[in-house]
Amino acid sequence: MKELIDILKRDRKLLPEEFAALINGMSEEDALYLKEQAFQVKEQFFGNKVFTRGLIEFTNYCKNDCYYCGIRKSNVNAVRYRLTLEDILSCCEEGYGLGFRTFVLQGGEDLRYSDEDIEQICRSIKNKYPDCAITLSIGEKSYESYKRYKEAGADRYLLRHETADEEHYRLLHPESLSLKERKQCLWNLKELGYQVGTGFMVGSPFQTAECIAKDLAFIKELEPAMVGIGPFLPHHDTPFKEYPKGSYELTLRMIAILRLMIPNGLLPATTALGTIHPMGREAGISWGANVVMPNLSPVRVRKKYELYDNKICTGDEAAECRSCLQRRMLTVGHEIVTARGDFIPYTFEAEGKENLCTM
Ligand code: 5AD
Ligand code: FES
Repeated sequence: MKELIDILKRDRKLLPEEFAALINGMSEEDALYLKEQAFQVKEQFFGNKVFTRGLIEFTNYCKNDCYYCGIRKSNVNAVRYRLTLEDILSCCEEGYGLGFRTFVLQGGEDLRYSDEDIEQICRSIKNKYPDCAITLSIGEKSYESYKRYKEAGADRYLLRHETADEEHYRLLHPESLSLKERKQCLWNLKELGYQVGTGFMVGSPFQTAECIAKDLAFIKELEPAMVGIGPFLPHHDTPFKEYPKGSYELTLRMIAILRLMIPNGLLPATTALGTIHPMGREAGISWGANVVMPNLSPVRVRKKYELYDNKICTGDEAAECRSCLQRRMLTVGHEIVTARGDFIPYTFEAEGKENLCTM
């Protein structure tokens, strides 16, 4: 397996069957080797700097019904909320003071916000904080809508593909959603010049090593700037409530594999990773992640944005989260920086040893 890891590091890709073999056949010793290699690459490109994004979960209404998600429309127990433009701007104000230079606006697919509304949100944030990046994460929209948001100031877009296996996709989503459409959205976003983020859950029901191999092949093809992955965690009010959570160890290994695939990529140590293990986000950094995304949403709505059970940080003020994460990152020798943390395309052929963090 060490050989495969070396090939992955050198070529930044493997064949799907090699990915599957690596995932299935990795010993503890191989995993430690993988971790070392990934950490080394991360250090080469980013040093000990960790980028941070302020996450604003502005609506938990959703027209979709994904079987894994706690805010799916059929969950009548979910207490729904929407933030106003003023709410969002006050989150940004607090976040800016805490050193955030990227705001991530995440929400369910909520038809109440028209394209004009989203444009207005983007324009207002950009107007007040021209030095900040805006990331949208509001699901599948038309090419035209994505174009409008981009023109209104959105810089980045997060849309996890969830699984790149057609059959698996069908088992996680109702008929109204399709992998084809999902992928098309991602290609549209790329074409429009967004820094694009995709990703998937590790250990979602029915996932196999072959599914993950397809995820990695799709990620290679897409060449995203960001990849968010976290373990599947069951939510008590969903059809998947009885399914076991994903593997913590496999999630860490996937982060390391992704770091070798995308040396200059922005890989978050996700909230789901911090939920499955008390030191999950720290471990994520040690396995090659370089981004953390603390929550800036008002505390009164935090618990309501519950995609899975026991989500962390739902009772903490933004400032507490920020300083908590600062301390946590220090325990693994890392430092959070005040910077936009843009994706920097890199010509590997130029064989550079430069550090992409300019802070
Ligand atoms: N467990 C883990 N991650 C989840 N997501 C949604 N539901 C769950 C769950 N039960 C992830 C999806 C989505 C992102 C916002 O959160 O991958 O894209
Ligand atoms: Fe939110 Fe620690 S990061 S409380």
